[in-house]
Amino acid sequence: MAKVLIENLYKIYPAEKGRPEKIAVDNANFEIQDREFMVLVGPSGCGKTTTLRMVAGLEEITRGSIYLDGKKINEVPPKDRDIAMVFQNYALYPHMSVYRNMAFGLELRGVPKDEIRRRVDSAAKILGLLEPDNLLERKPKALSGGQRQRVALGRAIVRKPKAFLFDEPLSNLDAKMRVETRTEISKLHRQLDSTMIYVTHDQTEAMTMADRIVVMRYGKIQQIAAPLELYHRPANLFVAGFIGSPPMNLLQGTLGAAPNGTLEFVEKVTSPHLPFRGVLSTDTSRKLSSRQGKEVILGFRPEQLHPNATSSNPTLQGILEVVEPMGAETYLYLKTGAHSCICRTTETDLGLKEGSKINLGVDLSRAAFFDPKTEETIPT
Ligand SMILES: Nc1ncnc2c1ncn2[C@@H]1O[C@H](COP(=O)(O)OP(=O)(O)OP(=O)(O)O)[C@@H](O)[C@H]1O
Ligand SMILES: [Mg+2]
Repeated sequence: MAKVLIENLYKIYPAEKGRPEKIAVDNANFEIQDREFMVLVGPSGCGKTTTLRMVAGLEEITRGSIYLDGKKINEVPPKDRDIAMVFQNYALYPHMSVYRNMAFGLELRGVPKDEIRRRVDSAAKILGLLEPDNLLERKPKALSGGQRQRVALGRAIVRKPKAFLFDEPLSNLDAKMRVETRTEISKLHRQLDSTMIYVTHDQTEAMTMADRIVVMRYGKIQQIAAPLELYHRPANLFVAGFIGSPPMNLLQGTLGAAPNGTLEFVEKVTSPHLPFRGVLSTDTSRKLSSRQGKEVILGFRPEQLHPNATSSNPTLQGILEVVEPMGAETYLYLKTGAHSCICRTTETDLGLKEGSKINLGVDLSRAAFFDPKTEETIPT
């Protein structure tokens, strides 16, 4: 059982030598359930590592509390926290064999030799370090990057910690290895049945691995939700733009009156361009009625743009700038009167020419609307 509770957590680096005070973590509040895979995601410098290091006990807490299974651990030294951390720079001991790299921490703790052997063998088996080649007697320099990373994971697993913390553990691997190791860590999570907190700036990693995701920006939590909840119901403009690849299309415009009491989104353009116009459903119009005449930002995902404009969907006109065939899908990059948009379609044989005019249908049934001032999502 390992439940982590983070309460009113702050990390403030005091001003020093002309450098102003830095609030690296700004009042973080969240709970990681027992056996949950929680991912902290956000751009560089948003406070992910700092948060994780405070949980591990490697960074002093400025204010707030961290609880492990109901027990406050603020003052508990790292070695007594029963939490194992895997870093981006996994720093294996170069002069030690793989076996000893994994066994060393246990030796220091005085775990009996046969128990160490059992734990290392079991971890090595889970991590595929025994087959097809037995790597236990090799030195780290005779391993691939991915194999080294697995040894670093092994070092954490043998400790049988209550919780695992990962700080960008895949960032030193090449693209293919990243995907493979990503899957392995997900499998590992199921096998070990333990609580994991995983930090990454890569939204794809976050989306594919997490039970729930904490999105951070400038030290502040933006939203905490399951991957698809974040994707379909982002809390604000930042989350909408950060989660999803290719990113959500965002159009500035205003909501004007349309027939039968509905509202129409009109893109903000300068002449001679013609704006994109889309009439909203009666239901959405009612929910947005207080915004009539006001500026909003319209958001729709690349898969809500369709290459074959139909009469049921409003048409977005633009110039097709780039066609990217991805295999099973094609990405179309187009320029409208004032914005750039991306269409993601499973149709691969479109016969479209770059530089030509193109009409796309926009499915507004799942569109999002944002307040341009507060950048918050307007509920619909
Ligand atoms: N010792 C320090 N003194 C002052 N500021 C610091 C110190 N350590 C970190 N920071 C700042 O705190 C902020 C958060 O850093 P942190 O390492 O947690 O970011 P991160 O989200 O892990 O970013 P990345 O994705 O680049 O690893 C950054 O702006 C960083 O510059
Ligand atoms: Mg970091």
